[in-house]
Amino acid sequence: MDSNTVLITGGNGQLGRELSLVAEHFAPLRFVATDLPELDITNAEAIDCCMANLKPRYVVNCAAYTAVDAAENDEPRALALNGHAPALLAQACQKHQARLIHVSTDYVFDGRGHRPYTEDAPTAPLSAYGRTKLAGEQAVMQSGIGSVVRTAWLYSPFGNNFVKTMLRLAGQRPSISVVADQVGSPTYAHDLAIAIGQMMASGKLSAGIYHYTNAGVCSWYDFAHEIMRLTGSPCRIEPIATEQYPTPAIRPCYSVLSKSKIQSDFGVDIPHWTTSLEHCLNRLKG
Ligand SMILES: NC(=O)c1ccc[n+]([C@@H]2O[C@H](COP(=O)([O-])OP(=O)(O)OC[C@H]3O[C@@H](n4cnc5c(N)ncnc54)[C@H](OP(=O)(O)O)[C@@H]3O)[C@@H](O)[C@H]2O)c1
Repeated sequence: MDSNTVLITGGNGQLGRELSLVAEHFAPLRFVATDLPELDITNAEAIDCCMANLKPRYVVNCAAYTAVDAAENDEPRALALNGHAPALLAQACQKHQARLIHVSTDYVFDGRGHRPYTEDAPTAPLSAYGRTKLAGEQAVMQSGIGSVVRTAWLYSPFGNNFVKTMLRLAGQRPSISVVADQVGSPTYAHDLAIAIGQMMASGKLSAGIYHYTNAGVCSWYDFAHEIMRLTGSPCRIEPIATEQYPTPAIRPCYSVLSKSKIQSDFGVDIPHWTTSLEHCLNRLKG
């Protein structure tokens, strides 16, 4: 495949936008971002037509049904986007000789572990979102032409995410109660975009699952506390237990992902979550 084109789906989302912003670092790769209504990844004909036109070397699937709680009452729609659409993309990649990079989630795990999950750890999703994302991973892996990149706790200056919610609430309230018994690693979408760019630029992408988050481990409470500290906010963060903040979807208590494989295969940079958080907050300020 001679083409240097990278087709991004879900290009207006958090990761999609960050990929477009880092594109210049990966020339001669040329990133083409698409989103609804231009390219609906649940429409096989539309995918085929787009790929016939662009002849991409890589397809990076950033489109997803990401409303974790809403998915509990909307699983068929979540499955169409998170489970069936990746299968359509994989089929189109086989037909048009492209490689697929599909983004997935720590929510495929049940969170009962106590050490970082490796790529081959058994999956056991607790939520509809997790089940539908696992279906998508399986379709991509079965195709033999795709790589799955699992990430977690994604945030950026764009869209809705925990960082932006905390900043908004801090401007409205003297204190915020935040869950302290769910532990994981935040991921700055900018860093993940660079890692995906490095994977493609390496030219040695093969089928497989990879994990990428920022380095370090924290609870949602720690994460919120650091947001307040870095912004100098007087808002107090109060630790609470998961039972005190019931949500429709059950989240894993522990979802730290091991990053050794992506580091050794591609030498990607994995900044500490506090460093990346500061970078994102500076962009939000600016
Ligand atoms: N956000 C997290 O905390 C998190 C954590 C772990 C893993 N992930 C995974 O990381 C990936 C990127 O997440 P993100 O937070 O960047 O997602 P996002 O911000 O929700 O972006 C998803 C994009 O996909 C678009 N989209 C929806 N339906 C589509 C369709 N049928 N065809 C094409 N595009 C469609 C959305 O458009 P609309 O906005 O118009 O619907 C949106 O622009 C996803 O695979 C997600 O599952 C996310």
